[in-house]
Amino acid sequence: MSNLNQETVTSVRHWTDRLFSFTCTRDPSFRFLAGQFTMIGLPVNGKPLLRAYSMASAVYEEQLEFFSIKVPDGPLTSKLQHIALGDTVLVGRKPVGTLVQDSLVPGRTLYLLGTGTGLAPFASIIRDPDIYDRFDRIVLAHGCREVAELGYGQALVASLKDHEFLSDLAQDKLLYYPTVTREPFQYQGRITDLLESNKLPFNLGLPAFGPQDDRVMLCGSEPFLADMVKLLDRSGFTEGSAHQPGTYVIEKAFVEK
Ligand code: A2P
Repeated sequence: MSNLNQETVTSVRHWTDRLFSFTCTRDPSFRFLAGQFTMIGLPVNGKPLLRAYSMASAVYEEQLEFFSIKVPDGPLTSKLQHIALGDTVLVGRKPVGTLVQDSLVPGRTLYLLGTGTGLAPFASIIRDPDIYDRFDRIVLAHGCREVAELGYGQALVASLKDHEFLSDLAQDKLLYYPTVTREPFQYQGRITDLLESNKLPFNLGLPAFGPQDDRVMLCGSEPFLADMVKLLDRSGFTEGSAHQPGTYVIEKAFVEK
């Protein structure tokens, strides 16, 4: 387990019967970029059982934070959902990932589009002061089935209002767009449909969505990503990478079947 740090759980919060978040200690040598992920897990029968998780915490925070789904018969999450204060979790020492600022060419509006636990990398990104220097505004759109599943994101965005050094930046530049598909809410519908129709930008008082000024980061379920990529490619966006920055980048959210 030499490529893993052993960390101690410092808090756990259950948001719904499908979602929870937790914090743990952070080895001082563990450095990452906002938006990256690493392998995390638990020792099971003497061996590490690991899955990819995005860091939800800010790069400068003393603790690490993760946002997770609970799958009743999932090999890892069926156990991970029962962690408690003081328990040990394993955290991979090598963060990686494509949702990083340098893979995008400069633009005016950054759209962070996530479904379900795909919000996690964006929780780190919207707490990174650098992102507010690079863009005129940041749109955080989070799509869920039910209102209760928005809880983690709503609390996060509310916490930025009183943040010691981000409150003014977030107030000026962060636009939050939570949307729900399976019950009534202020904003309703799939993110794909809301962009295709330009309802999402128009609701926020922004110009129509397009590759000239807009940049996009995507994280969510495979069907969501597939449909979003079709929409983006059709609209003239190009996928970026560390070698060749583009107008959008994409990452699969953690899933456990
Ligand atoms: P819907 O309720 O219409 O399926 P999940 O929990 O299944 O990952 O879904 C999270 C959110 O993503 C839900 O609001 C869901 O809408 C939406 N969603 C699922 N598939 C797609 C897709 N192909 N394109 C856009 N949104 C999607």
